[in-house]
Amino acid sequence: MGNCPECRNWNSIVEEVEEVSKPGSLSFGKPSPPIPITEVAASESARIKTGISELDRALGGGIVRGSAILIGGDPGIGKSTLMLQVAGRLAAQGSVALYVSAEESSSQLRMRAERIGISFSSLFVMAETLLEVILEKIKHIKPELVVLDSMQTVYSTFMESPPGSISQIREVTGRMLYLAKGMGIPVFIVGHVTKEGTIAGPKAVEHMVDVVLYFEGERNYPYRILRAIKNRFGSTNEIGIFEMKENGLEEVKNPSEFFLSERPINASGSVVVAAMEGTRSILVEIQALLSQSPYGMPRRTTIGIDPNRVSLIVAVLERKAGLPLFQHDVFIKVTGGVKIDEPAVDLGIVAATTSSFLDKSIPADTVVFGEIGLAGEVRGVVRGEMRIREASKMGFKRCIIPAANRKALRYEGGMEIIDVSSIKEFIELLF
Ligand code: TYD
Ligand code: MG
Repeated sequence: MGNCPECRNWNSIVEEVEEVSKPGSLSFGKPSPPIPITEVAASESARIKTGISELDRALGGGIVRGSAILIGGDPGIGKSTLMLQVAGRLAAQGSVALYVSAEESSSQLRMRAERIGISFSSLFVMAETLLEVILEKIKHIKPELVVLDSMQTVYSTFMESPPGSISQIREVTGRMLYLAKGMGIPVFIVGHVTKEGTIAGPKAVEHMVDVVLYFEGERNYPYRILRAIKNRFGSTNEIGIFEMKENGLEEVKNPSEFFLSERPINASGSVVVAAMEGTRSILVEIQALLSQSPYGMPRRTTIGIDPNRVSLIVAVLERKAGLPLFQHDVFIKVTGGVKIDEPAVDLGIVAATTSSFLDKSIPADTVVFGEIGLAGEVRGVVRGEMRIREASKMGFKRCIIPAANRKALRYEGGMEIIDVSSIKEFIELLF
């Protein structure tokens, strides 16, 4: 059938040959009888620490043995680089790690490894695309870690559909998962995020694996965020931050410093906001620029922030603080290529916009955070204390926060804390 009767797309249907499986063939390793949960051994020490703390953090404290970890991301974002570094770290600790590449030749891998300074005899590489050969070799070498790069280029001869098709990637992932559970070897499976077309993406196998990590970032900026989307062994709130350098990925230990490093001092339209990324507070700079709108329809353009959020706040600024913004185009940008989507940036948008409108700068040692309601009220946000802690650590002296957060505050970090309850009060205070 060439045309899908449901979505009406052409050539989107792939054949999936049903395999006859023997009864019981799906159990992992030895058949085990049901036992009381209290008698099951659960040891956290089973986790393998990669030594790359940003990755260990995103994994919830290291790699769990026998787990299948999917690492997705746009092509060229740095998945292979990260995986090679992980395999290299384990090899450096004396473990046997196997890096299977179905995309690059062994000599290309060697060149990449040299570039990022990895050279250990216990790191094995293999350029192979055939799943059956790969599984055979893994059983033979018995490594302590396997990287499969990528699920879209490896294929099984048992399937008739081409590599990268949905049935192939499911088969590849399923058999790798089976191997991981059976042999107790953790497996990283790399998957390219695909916009559209005939190649299936990592989404199609998310439900099968134990952990799903996505590697995100803007190609033109050096920083990358590793985000846990699913984790059977930990929280999905965790993220890891990396910087892509000449010689591989480097952990960013102090993201706030990294994102604030080029901040203009005493320029109007710039403010620092204490935002949250995962369970960490990160200070970012928000910039606003207002210019006379030549047309009747003023524009609200944003980078790194939801434009609806900005339109809404601009409307509140007009009605509740009396700022005549209807003749101005408003441009808002979060610097450093960061994307922020949380209510606490509202106060930052207000501050930056007003600062640009009045052409008055905000003191460089001030941090703000808080949500704005449609009645012009400033509302409390989660984790106020953690945000203040980060601001204090980065040497800021003043923090303007919602009144609701002030009440619950037990830590002030030696800073001047000012609480506000309305947008009007906030603007009067700041300017
Ligand atoms: P890569 O890991 O090949 O991406 P993926 O596997 O996700 O497709 O990384 C690709 C980009 O990273 C490439 O454009 C060059 C850059 N890069 C560096 O900047 N420094 C390095 O040390 C390496 C290995 C790559
Ligand atoms: Mg790659």
